[in-house]
Amino acid sequence: MAGFALLRSLVTALALARYSLADQDSVLVERQSDPCAAIANQTYVVPSKLTACLNSFAFNATLRDNIVDVVSKTLNFHASTNYQIWAPPPFFDVHVDVQSELKRIKRTSYSSDFELHKDVSAQVKRLFDGHCTYISMSFITITFSSNSLQTIAVRVNIAEVYTLLTDWTVDDSLFVTYLPFPLVNLDSGWQNWVQDIYIAPEAYNVVSKEFAPFVAEWQKIAGYNFTKYAGAKVIAIDDFDPWYAVDQSASVIGAWQGRSQRQNSFFSSYIRAATEWSYRMGDFAARSLPPAKDYVKMTVIPVNSTRWETIKVPFISRIATGTVPFTNAADLWKGNCLAKSTTNGVDYFATAKTADKMLKGAEEGDSKTAELVDPSPPKFAEPIAPEDRRHPISSLVDVTALADVALPPELNPPTPVSGSGTAQFYLQGKVGIFMLGSFSTGAGYAQWFQIIKDGLTSLKAQGATHLIVDVTNNGGGYICVANYLHRFLAGPSPRTEPNAGFDTKARYNALASNITNVITAGGVPERAYLLYDPVNWRYANSSAYFPESYNWLEPPVKTVVNGRQDAFSQKLGDECQPFPLDVPSEPLFPMENIGIVNNGRCASSCAIFTITMAKKEKVRVAVVGGRQFTPQQYTGTVGGQSTSFTVIDSEIKSTHLKNNSLAPPDFIGNAYQGLTWRLGFGFDNPKEPEEWQNHQADDTFPLTLETVNRPEALWKDLTKRWWPNL
Ligand SMILES: *[C@@H]1O[C@H](CO)[C@@H](O)[C@H](O)[C@H]1NC(C)=O
Ligand SMILES: *[C@@H]1O[C@H](CO)[C@@H](O)[C@H](O)[C@H]1NC(C)=O
Ligand SMILES: *[C@@H]1O[C@H](CO)[C@@H](O)[C@H](O)[C@H]1NC(C)=O
Ligand SMILES: *[C@@H]1O[C@H](CO)[C@@H](O)[C@H](O)[C@H]1NC(C)=O
Ligand SMILES: *[C@@H]1O[C@H](CO)[C@@H](O)[C@H](O)[C@H]1NC(C)=O
Ligand SMILES: *[C@@H]1O[C@H](CO)[C@@H](O)[C@H](O)[C@H]1NC(C)=O
Ligand SMILES: *[C@@H]1O[C@H](CO)[C@@H](O)[C@H](O)[C@H]1NC(C)=O
Repeated sequence: MAGFALLRSLVTALALARYSLADQDSVLVERQSDPCAAIANQTYVVPSKLTACLNSFAFNATLRDNIVDVVSKTLNFHASTNYQIWAPPPFFDVHVDVQSELKRIKRTSYSSDFELHKDVSAQVKRLFDGHCTYISMSFITITFSSNSLQTIAVRVNIAEVYTLLTDWTVDDSLFVTYLPFPLVNLDSGWQNWVQDIYIAPEAYNVVSKEFAPFVAEWQKIAGYNFTKYAGAKVIAIDDFDPWYAVDQSASVIGAWQGRSQRQNSFFSSYIRAATEWSYRMGDFAARSLPPAKDYVKMTVIPVNSTRWETIKVPFISRIATGTVPFTNAADLWKGNCLAKSTTNGVDYFATAKTADKMLKGAEEGDSKTAELVDPSPPKFAEPIAPEDRRHPISSLVDVTALADVALPPELNPPTPVSGSGTAQFYLQGKVGIFMLGSFSTGAGYAQWFQIIKDGLTSLKAQGATHLIVDVTNNGGGYICVANYLHRFLAGPSPRTEPNAGFDTKARYNALASNITNVITAGGVPERAYLLYDPVNWRYANSSAYFPESYNWLEPPVKTVVNGRQDAFSQKLGDECQPFPLDVPSEPLFPMENIGIVNNGRCASSCAIFTITMAKKEKVRVAVVGGRQFTPQQYTGTVGGQSTSFTVIDSEIKSTHLKNNSLAPPDFIGNAYQGLTWRLGFGFDNPKEPEEWQNHQADDTFPLTLETVNRPEALWKDLTKRWWPNL
């Protein structure tokens, strides 16, 4: 996070130096023919000029075929592909045969490379699965939810390369587009029978700080002061009821199978990040792609007024911290759009050699090898602790959010009684609060168990009789930490032992089985590093790890999914217990004294925790701020274990199977494809995946001016609702 802060201040400094949009009028003649040269060296640009630049890259069929081949072959490792052809209710939006869409794309020509990427991205987003995200880093801004050190931050004393992935917590692309008015959905009275959308009351405080060097210029473009509209009621967006804009956004943003979460995602919210309380602007006010117009039209009623006003609100696109500076289209492409050293997998067991060779090639001016070397400085810096081996992760890849904006200090809760990073503990009278922003960020694997144990134990020692666990915007992390928290709170029982999480299955394909065969035949120099190594996984009864020489994928379990033949591994049990730290011999609190709260945006390992608590322990869960009368899902993007093309490619390269016809080629461009590697079995219906079973919250509470984006006030409100006699 320190490097991150530095980058941010650099961007701010750059912004100070040259924020003026007026500069664009002094374009050189040659720049006019290159729309990317016209925006070179600009920190802030209007979206139409950015779009002109992005659209200037010609469509190239070789690149199209490469993307389709990589994505399509990678999706053979994604456990959910056939389920997503037609998900059961209430997930009526999940309905796409993504493999046939990819075939269609391979037959299609586009007006530009950008149009191609938009189509691929849109089709993959129709999976509504935040584990299975396609990203072209040349165009689309990505913010890995701060906890998503994808994969295996883990098996890294060989594969140092993975440390590079941690850098992806920085938004890693060209520009993010903003509006100055993040929105909130508030109870307008009548016990939530009336709801209205408002410009967040804190809008100006957030924006004036985040865009400090530019805000005066931005207001000049708008022709009014942004302060005037903080807290204003929104009557219309582009002449339609604002809920129309909410639902339009919810139809395209992907990531969550539940519509409620995609609606809630439109609004601003808070996040507990590793070093501070952060502010998520929401999908209305922060966008990964430039919109089609430079303005949005809003009809609003300012605070203390009764008069409707229609205003044009200007978008602005700000260069992202990860963008390699460019002066024209050619070096924009070279710096930002080609595969980097982290894009494709590596042979783990030859990493040192490979890295040497690449660096040597670069020094010797071999342009082909030089391109492979990440142009930014070598980042093999922070070694990951050896005990971090073999700790699977499940986390969301969030392409819509931007988590690095600070929550204004007046909204921050007071000093916690204990905690570390994204885990903070507070005491409000007899109610302990556990704010948990992630299951992996901000601390090492072993530390996580200690933080949970110390924090919860100390809340109880200080007199807490009740507990609120706030998992707002928690995108997951270490699977075993989620299991530990369930076991720690609920005590020993058949619900927590031997497995406090899900049983799972991995997708079967011939190449996966070939990889496993190479490993079991002793074809790799070190064991336990590869995902497919049997020694990492246990039988369904959780009794023992598989033997070294056992291909656990054979024979496959043949299954018909949505009318298609599919195949999976046998059922896998728990691999987390015994935990690295001891656990209490009885429940920490009576289950009726625990409540879990979020805004619906709780994914992956957060799903493991909330689903086991809600479905097995009958703990109450509330979603706040959702649209009234819309059933609210308290979690989604459940998965079981997530990973990415890069890791699968490394498995293939480490077992020397890259020439297998099922192996995806390397990406030519700077792209990313995520996947669900293991899918959890459900609790209500144990034969089917938990992913598409209902996760409707018992309680749905509205937000008000007093509670919105104010965690402390929200926790007090929940206490009153849940335990009125406290
Ligand atoms: C951008 O900035 C660099 C260095 O600051 C300068 O060399 C270059 O001429 C600038 N390019 C444009 C198009 O203004
Ligand atoms: C298309 O992309 C490939 C791969 O980067 C490149 O070799 C080829 O020259 C490109 N074709 C054109 C017409 O630019
Ligand atoms: C905006 O606010 C500043 C100072 O707060 C004031 O000087 C200026 O006149 C205002 N502009 C408009 C358009 O209201
Ligand atoms: C609105 O009116 C109330 C009561 O008169 C006042 O306290 C508040 O400051 C006003 N808010 C704004 C933004 O003018
Ligand atoms: C890969 O697996 C398939 C299916 O089990 C098998 O037919 C094939 O021979 C294997 N190939 C290699 C190279 O192991
Ligand atoms: C667990 O399952 C395995 C494989 O089916 C079996 O060999 C083993 O005996 C079982 N262990 C227990 C304790 O049931
Ligand atoms: C794949 O490459 C290996 C050598 O790395 C070779 O032995 C094998 O025959 C190749 N297989 C195919 C199908 O080309």
